[in-house]
Order: sequence, then structure tokens, then C-alpha cells
Amino acid sequence: MRKICIFDTTLRDGEQAPGCTMNPGEKLALAKQLERLGVDVIEAGFPVASPDDFAAVNEIAKIITGSAVAALCRAVAKDVETAAKALAPAKNPRLHVFIATSDLHLREKLGITREKALEMIAESVALACTLCRDVEFSAEDATRSDREFLLAALNTAIDAGAATVNVPDTVGYTTPEEMGDLIAWLKKNLHRKKDGAEVTLSVHCHNDLGMAVANSLAAIRAGASQVEGTINGIGERAGNVALEEVIMALDTRGPLYQAETGIDLKQIYRTCRLVSTVIGQKIPPNKPVVGRNAFNHEAGIHQHGVLKNPLTYEIMSPERIGIYDNDLVLGKHSGKHAFTQRVEELGYILPGELLEKAFARFLALADRKKTVTNKDIEAIVGAAGYSIPETYKLHSFVVNSGTVISATAVVKLIRDGEEIEHVARGDGPIDAAFKAIDRIVKVGFQLVNYSIHSVTEGEDAQGEVVVKLRQGNNTVTGRGLSTDIFEASLKAYLNAVNKIIAQ
Ligand code: KIV
Ligand code: ZN
Repeated sequence: MRKICIFDTTLRDGEQAPGCTMNPGEKLALAKQLERLGVDVIEAGFPVASPDDFAAVNEIAKIITGSAVAALCRAVAKDVETAAKALAPAKNPRLHVFIATSDLHLREKLGITREKALEMIAESVALACTLCRDVEFSAEDATRSDREFLLAALNTAIDAGAATVNVPDTVGYTTPEEMGDLIAWLKKNLHRKKDGAEVTLSVHCHNDLGMAVANSLAAIRAGASQVEGTINGIGERAGNVALEEVIMALDTRGPLYQAETGIDLKQIYRTCRLVSTVIGQKIPPNKPVVGRNAFNHEAGIHQHGVLKNPLTYEIMSPERIGIYDNDLVLGKHSGKHAFTQRVEELGYILPGELLEKAFARFLALADRKKTVTNKDIEAIVGAAGYSIPETYKLHSFVVNSGTVISATAVVKLIRDGEEIEHVARGDGPIDAAFKAIDRIVKVGFQLVNYSIHSVTEGEDAQGEVVVKLRQGNNTVTGRGLSTDIFEASLKAYLNAVNKIIAQ
């Protein structure tokens, strides 16, 4: 079986999409989970884009040892040097240099000739190779580029020292047949590295026409040995290819593709959940592989078949990707040892302080809820994993609402040990409570999204509220969990406010 490298760009191409911004703590938590998942490369950011991006790449480079850490840079010296500096602490750094190769992009976006582009590729890749032992080159908009020129651009990069060349379908325009044909042709015509070895041929598919997974798989069949994408397929417009879908297609149809990945499949579900939690976007119920309905069998005839033999209607088992059933696992009298053991069985490793926090949340929940399930525990652990300084803490609240009175809320918060209380009226009790918080914190922002869903079934299910607040160009996501939806809402709002203050 051929080994397919999985290059994850959730933290760069994914994070770049509107509404998917992550704070530094969230990026670190996600990078650690991607390492646990076993991806070969984590693209941590675009260091020249902002000091925050630089810092995030630098922090990730310090803590990740099991995957290579990549940083993106345009084909210009300043970008390459900045990215190399950000990657300095990495055990396995990769510089990822790119420039567009389609005539449309060269003319309209960059205003340069093909010859100039080749010159820039040769210079920037050569410079990158003096600063880093592992260099990848990407030809942006490759699938709309003239084939011969694309080949010339990739060969220029290889001659300058690139070990991986990447073919992005930047605007999700190509089809599986075209992609397979292009990759097979490139494979035949690409130069070899100076030592005579083959380069790694990579693809990077966007999903504008819903063909990103099919295009990536077609490329693999034609000889590509690296796939770039994001968890849950997040990314600009219709997103990038969903890596979990490519990985499970290769696993489920191994004999067809004759290819495998080094991914720890049992980490797939929790990685997808973590991304969904961090960016505050629910996984659609019918999403392949990890959607809530992916393993639900409603139709009687299907249920009958699955009970007799799951293979009748299930081509992969939920356990294979780390989804376990919803049995009661712990209760009010479970001690810290039992909780820690369960957290570890679920595949999470929480350092001391975060474990304490998660245990405190578990005890509070077990006090209110009859049955604490694995899903509850995963929600608690997810919330603990990327905490930020809690400038304001919720002390208490009272909401008053009805059809014949205007909604009012009294909210008391604590800041530096001091209790601060405010009352406000609003268009409904949640709006009133949010306005009371606004009066206390006095920070300008706008509420752009509010959503609520239940973590499990039943009357005492935990509600998970996600809010998005915008301040200027910056959007932050706040999340709150409680069996009381008002409390969950206030916690989510405060979580987002605290993130804005922390920035
Ligand atoms: O879609 C794209 O072309 C990219 C490149 C920068 C790799 O994200
Ligand atoms: Zn992209």
C-alpha cells in the first residue's frame, strides 16, 4: 500500500474563512489534537499576515513534535524570511512558498509576466531552501493554468530545491476526470530531485462545485501522494476538502485505492467536534462520516438489517472513528479518579489545571443531571481545553419575562473580586440579560449570531449556546454549557466578551 501524507490546513486556510477565527489558545489546543490525530503536516498560519499569525505559528512550532509544522509565504524574500523565523523552534519545519500560475491571476492580480513568475519561484524557493530543510511549492490556481506553464513552474521549484509540489484547485473548478488526467501527466513529466528521488506530488482541493473529495481521490489514484485539506471542510466560500472524508474513503475502500494514511482513526470524531466547538459551527446532521445521522437508522427495514448484521447498512462502524454509545458512564458520586479515567478512555489528555476545571464542571453537572453521558463529558472537556482569562465571571442573574410585561434582567458579575450589578430591559429575556452585561463591561461590539442546541437527549439535557460577537473586523466565538438555557446563554456571551478583552 502507498502511504498518503495528510497535510492539514485547518489553522491556515480554514481559519482564514469568515466566522472561523480562532484565538491563540484555541489554535494551540487544535494543533495538539491534530498531532494526536496523526496528521503528517500541520499548516499553522501565514506569519507575514499579522503579528498574531506570526505568534501563533511560533507557539505551535514550540509544542508540536509529532507532525511537521508548516508556515505559508508568498514567493517574496520578506515573506519567506518571516515564515522561517516563526518556524525557528519547530522540530520538523516546512516552508510553504506559493505564487499563482494562471494567466488570469498573473495578469489581473499580480500584474506580472510568466517569465517574472518563474524568476520569483526560482529565487524564493532557493532562499527558502537555505533557511529550512523541507520546502513545498504551491502553484495557486493550478487547475486553471496553462498545463505547460504549470509544469514549467513546478519544475522550476523542484530544480530550486522544493521536495513537495502542490497543485491547488483554488476555486474548486476542476472535475475528477480532469484532475486525474492532470496529475497522471504531471507525474510523468515532473523533474526529479537533485538526489534522483521523486518529489511528493500534492493536491489541494476547494469545494465550490461539491467535488473536492472526488477530485482529491482521483488525484490519489493518478499518483498524488499528499492531500491538503481541513477538518470538517472549513475554509473560504464552500470550503476545502474535508480531510476526515478523504481519510475514511481510503480506509473503507483500501483495496480500490491501494493507499493508506498514518491517521489514528479513533481520533477523527473528537477532532471534528473540537473544530466545530472552537468556531461555533455545528456539524450538519447529514455530514458524511461525522454528522449526527451518519450512523442513525430510522427506517424500520434498515434498523432490522443493522440489528441482524451492522454491515447491511453500515459501511464503517461508529467506533472506528471514535464515536462511542451514549450510556450512563458516571454519576454524582464518581470521584476524580473515575472521571480522569473516563476522560482518558475517551482519548483526551488534560494537563492538571484544565483537568481540575473540567472535574469541577462535571461535579456541577452531576448535581443537576440524572445521567452524565460520554457526550456530556466530551462537551465539558471541550470547553476546558481552550480556556481564556476570565476577566468577568457570572455571579448570579434574575430574568423576568412574559407576554404582558417587557422582559427585564438583573445580572451580577465579578471582576477582580468586586461584584458589579446592572439591570436592563430587552426584546426578550436573553436580549435583556445581554444588555445588562453590556452595561457592566462597557466594551463596544455587536452580536452577530446566537445558536442553541442540546448536547444529549432528555429533559435534563445540557444546552450548548454559541454566540459570535464582532468588534471591527474581528469576530470571536463564545460558548456556554448548562442545563439552564439562560445560564448557558450568559456564559456563552461572557466567554466571548472575555475573549474580546483578552485580545
Ligand atoms: O487554495 C489555494 O490555492 C491555497 C494555496 C495558498 C495553497 O490555499
Ligand atoms: Zn486553499
